[in-house]
Amino acid sequence: MRIPEREYTEAGRWKGRLTNKPIPDHDPTIDALSAADREKLATIWHHRAAMERRVGDAFDVIREALVRLRAPETLVSLATRAIDDEYRHTELSRLVASRFAGRALPMPERLHLEVPKHKGASPELRDTLFVVGQCVLNETTASAFLECCVKHATGPVAVAALRELLSDEIDHGRIGWSHLASLDQAKRNEVARWMFPMAYLNLQIWKKETPYDPSHSEALSRHGSPSAEVTHAALVGALEDLIVPGMKELEMNTASIEAWLAAGANTDRAPIEFLSI
Ligand SMILES: [Fe+2]
Ligand SMILES: [Fe+2]
Repeated sequence: MRIPEREYTEAGRWKGRLTNKPIPDHDPTIDALSAADREKLATIWHHRAAMERRVGDAFDVIREALVRLRAPETLVSLATRAIDDEYRHTELSRLVASRFAGRALPMPERLHLEVPKHKGASPELRDTLFVVGQCVLNETTASAFLECCVKHATGPVAVAALRELLSDEIDHGRIGWSHLASLDQAKRNEVARWMFPMAYLNLQIWKKETPYDPSHSEALSRHGSPSAEVTHAALVGALEDLIVPGMKELEMNTASIEAWLAAGANTDRAPIEFLSI
């Protein structure tokens, strides 16, 4: 099933506008690319559109979870706005893909969202884990990923789109951190026990989505797609520099995550030896 066109609405962040600042109409750096690089970048950005839409579905789950948890209205409305943001991200990424393709590309096929089961967690804890898994882990990682993309990008269209995405994802991460901060210490300690396996799986998914590409070129970095090595360093950096310090600030146990990070943050096999630390 194809993603429907224009799902974002006037109730969204920019009152129905796609972006805060317009994406440049002309980008001579795109015209200067080889046909092969243009095609590759179109494919990368088109796939990003599909992934952004799937995050929109994830925020439907988050919003419902926050309602069930009786979270403050401010957090629920931030989650509601995040759904609209992700619809905007979908269209923005499709638009950027179209610029590389040199023609208007259709919306991509919809990706299936696999909602984590969190087996063994109470319904209340499961709802919190949905919020923490998506916002504290995935959105914080997304922010680090986009920051890395912006750092290496020079193409005006890519830079404008990446900046727009980045500022929203930082906001989405805050939903999770605010919720975590609102819990009492006993509940945070419960969440802490789930954080290592969730962080491991989150990094594994991100690495799968950004595979090593032997034909990667600087041209791709200039338009928002840095190499796998650079990207993976940024993903691990998100854990080391943002997520672990944030958890520590909230007095959550990070020993397992830190030991696994210190040993190289391997995602090729389940890191069971660090579980009991
Ligand atoms: Fe997004
Ligand atoms: Fe997001």
